[in-house]
Amino acid sequence: MKKNNLPFPKNLIEASDLNKNHLEQLFEKAKYFEENFKQGIKFPDLQGITIATVFFEPSTRTRLSFELAAKRLSADVLNFTASASSLTKGESLADTIRTIDAMHVNMYVIRNKFSGVPQFATQITNKTIINAGDGKHEHPTQALLDAYTILKHYGKFDGLKICIIGDILHSRVARSNITMLQNLGAVVKLMAPGTLLPRCLNCWNLEIIDNINEAVEWSDALILLRLQRERMSSGLLPSLEEYVKFYQVGLENFIQNDKLILLHPGPVNYGIEIDFRISKLHNYLVNQQVTNGVFTRMAILSLLFEASK
Ligand code: NCD
Repeated sequence: MKKNNLPFPKNLIEASDLNKNHLEQLFEKAKYFEENFKQGIKFPDLQGITIATVFFEPSTRTRLSFELAAKRLSADVLNFTASASSLTKGESLADTIRTIDAMHVNMYVIRNKFSGVPQFATQITNKTIINAGDGKHEHPTQALLDAYTILKHYGKFDGLKICIIGDILHSRVARSNITMLQNLGAVVKLMAPGTLLPRCLNCWNLEIIDNINEAVEWSDALILLRLQRERMSSGLLPSLEEYVKFYQVGLENFIQNDKLILLHPGPVNYGIEIDFRISKLHNYLVNQQVTNGVFTRMAILSLLFEASK
């Protein structure tokens, strides 16, 4: 029987904008792009469309991945970098968006250090907005590529056990992943020092693991997070050494469960959240996440554009 495909929302601001049916359509589309990809050949989906990547915060993976995804779909791409713009001359965020809008841009990919900026942008322009990370709020396309990577490895989500370890308090990646992975049927647990967990912990109703060996034993997949010190006020950690001692995934931990896979959104700080030697192992999927990021972003750009027509 053919599934009833639900229309996509116009904007992607948070993981809850996508229900399970949308996610299944996205994974199918990403798989199509992955299977039919040939270097140098472009898909026609976004022919004649202009996409602006508007980044007010540093980025390597997300920015390049969106740019490449848009180009592989035949779009034109404008890259806006805050530090090289008229924002430094006092122009407002709203005027910046209005200026880009006047150039007939069709879609925006926005990153900002403040939570809520992509949502705010939907009030300035009626074009499609995709959130590429806002403060510690959400980063839905990171969750999408994480989920796709896990699906490719395990072929299912139902009952899959996933533990997110690290600085959950400041992590937009954790927030999007918790919503999306649970929505897909996975069981999510968290592991972090109490000072790096949000006070609203019980609103997620997730179990906390407080021992790295237990996390490794229990999990099918670990998602590690960086200590996001740029968003951290002092005094949240007694010392870095203590964090490393209790929360770092070491080589011994990792090989203790040989079916375990390890994901990390990057940037990785080796020697802090993870032992460098793990990066050489086949079930360390960080580079696969990057590759999958381009295909999943192609899928989201294509399906959101279809929906906005
Ligand atoms: C993350 C981000 O910027 O939110 N990285 C990413 O987008 N790949 C995570 C982080 O900065 O630690």
